[in-house]
Amino acid sequence: MDIDKKVWEILFSEEDILNRIDELGGQISGDYKDKNLYIISLLRGSFVFTADLVRKLDIPVKIDFIVTSSYGYETETTGTVEITGHIEEDLTGYHVLIVDDIVDSGLTMKKVIEYLKAKNPSDIKSCVLLDKPERRQLKLVPDYVGFTIPNKFVVGYGLNYGDHYRNIPYVFAVTDEDR
Ligand code: PRP
Repeated sequence: MDIDKKVWEILFSEEDILNRIDELGGQISGDYKDKNLYIISLLRGSFVFTADLVRKLDIPVKIDFIVTSSYGYETETTGTVEITGHIEEDLTGYHVLIVDDIVDSGLTMKKVIEYLKAKNPSDIKSCVLLDKPERRQLKLVPDYVGFTIPNKFVVGYGLNYGDHYRNIPYVFAVTDEDR
């Protein structure tokens, strides 16, 4: 599908997103005020969200990245989540917050939670910009959610289509309608 030839339905404008991130940042700053917060961001999709979110935190925070991949060029998960970039250190004493752009099937988040549990953190929570609960393949409720969305293929603000469009500053759904 050539998405440049389809009508884009804007779901969340740049302003909508930044306003919501402002709220999430305030909430997370309050919740982790007296804790050793360690944000683990899942590349590549979450790089834009993470960059905006961490600048809304007014508490000390460590930040690192894991690379996960399961979609490739497809719009459906392959069902196999690969972790290719790793966290080397032990996480004892840290309160880990996993940050990702979207939870869809939930397979990526589940795999990363299992991976991080082995590093012995005090606890693990999750924060996603977009939650698409209709597509869940397992029981998983993210702790912090920017927006809950319907079952539409979404692109922009870090989310890709064919490895492009991650730089679009808003989130849009690709419709069936030709331009
Ligand atoms: C996307 C997205 C999430 C994951 C969510 O990553 O960034 O990490 O899929 O889907 P799930 O809940 O069905 O597992 P992808 O594997 O496409 O890699 P990317 O971050 O490089 O885009």
